[in-house]
Amino acid sequence: MSLRTLSQRTAPFRAPEDRHAAEIEAFSWRYGAGDAHTLAGYEAMDGYVGARKAVGMEPSEIIQLVKDAGVRGRGGAGFPTGLKWSFVAQGTGKPAYIVCNADESEPGTFKDRLLLELDPHSLVEGMICGGIAIQSETGVIYCRGEFGFVARRLQAAIKEAYEAGYLGENIFGSGKRFDLILHRGAAAYICGEETALLESLEGRRGQPRLRPPFPAAHGLYGCPTTVNNVETIITTPYLLRHGSQWYRQWGTEKSPGPKLMCISGEVVNPGNYEVGLGTKVSDMIEMAGGMLPGRELKFWCPGGSSTPYLTADHADVPYTFEAIAEAGSLLGTGALMLYSDRTSVVETTWRYVGFYKHESCGKCTPCREGGAWMHQILGRILRGQGRMEDLDLLSDICDNIFGRSFCALGDAATSPVAASIQYFRDEYVHLIEHGTLPDGVYRTTDPAYFDAPPVRSVATTGA
Ligand SMILES: Cc1cc2nc3c(=O)[nH]c(=O)nc-3n(C[C@H](O)[C@H](O)[C@H](O)COP(=O)(O)O)c2cc1C
Ligand code: SF4
Repeated sequence: MSLRTLSQRTAPFRAPEDRHAAEIEAFSWRYGAGDAHTLAGYEAMDGYVGARKAVGMEPSEIIQLVKDAGVRGRGGAGFPTGLKWSFVAQGTGKPAYIVCNADESEPGTFKDRLLLELDPHSLVEGMICGGIAIQSETGVIYCRGEFGFVARRLQAAIKEAYEAGYLGENIFGSGKRFDLILHRGAAAYICGEETALLESLEGRRGQPRLRPPFPAAHGLYGCPTTVNNVETIITTPYLLRHGSQWYRQWGTEKSPGPKLMCISGEVVNPGNYEVGLGTKVSDMIEMAGGMLPGRELKFWCPGGSSTPYLTADHADVPYTFEAIAEAGSLLGTGALMLYSDRTSVVETTWRYVGFYKHESCGKCTPCREGGAWMHQILGRILRGQGRMEDLDLLSDICDNIFGRSFCALGDAATSPVAASIQYFRDEYVHLIEHGTLPDGVYRTTDPAYFDAPPVRSVATTGA
């Protein structure tokens, strides 16, 4: 999708009177400016005000500010950012590194891309502030391999920041040094996992590392490191400008702040949106123009393909880490994917599991073998050759992958399978008993693909 098409589908480009009451512009307010990707455009909109302040502050003051705001990481797990930064080992005699995870490969997720295309200096500024907080003189942005336009925009922003003296040996004339490097991956989903990312950065095959030791003590090149998501990193300059209470005006005590959302699936206006955490999912559906005409919500993924499905019964759940967890899923990356009553949940699950099978790095047996096996079984159910025992077999394979895999990718592969059996067992049973989908439910894949021979996982590399 071109930037132009994407822009037209992006809420912040619409006139304020056309926006839903739940929409906000905390982090997306520069999207419509047109030139915010340039240094001049960025500085005209408060750019580098936070970084100028940060250079005169103690690292501990910045970390305290992030803690006071209650910022939780936006890369999926929601770990408290201030705490994570305070874990970065100091006084080891080794350099510390701040690494930005701009891999954004989770199916359904496209929030970081738009931010980086339209407001790349906000990441440069966030990296400077984060670097000062963890006492690092070097930052690395690990950018998804397919993000060609993003990489060009980021590289141009970094160049402008160096030329202005905002990066380099004497940032803002403060005597402090901070260098920023852009590294492009080679399009492997596993390289978004923070330790696989570090392996890839070091030039090795992108496979997760055993933890402990954690990156805070032993990360990039064996040095203290923090890895954070793009949206997490751009937060600090806002806190420096507006304070922690500004951030807390949205959300709940445990889930404060604004959230960039990627809304996709069977809604009228899929695209990028921004809301305060705590917004109900039903409001977000309304915000995206509602479900397509004649379709009703059947199931949805709260935060990308790795988060277990919820159903229409959960549509009034507030979008917070705690409420989504209580409902049985995860907030993940803020990628809300909505499916209607016309869509086969079994086929959707088959497609997701196919993704995880393909992206498994092959390091551990449960994920490498289990993902491919589940994909085969789902394929035969969709072909009309399923057996009733397959449902127990699928659940059994899930139990043997979940919590037994080396990293969270294995767990993620089980999410759609376990949730679809939990909520939509009837659709499986219908397919097994009749060989077809129930009336009014459709598949989109040519059945020939369900016959595809099992493909052995091929270890991917981000090096
Ligand atoms: C398979 C896999 C892929 C991931 N991909 C991403 C990604 O693309 N971007 C991201 O920020 N985090 C990703 N993560 C989460 C990271 O490992 C890490 O938790 C995150 O970057 C931490 O940032 P945060 O503290 O700001 O949330 C992924 C995790 C797994 C297991
Ligand atoms: S769970 Fe999958 S992706 Fe993670 S280490 Fe094991 S094989 Fe690799």
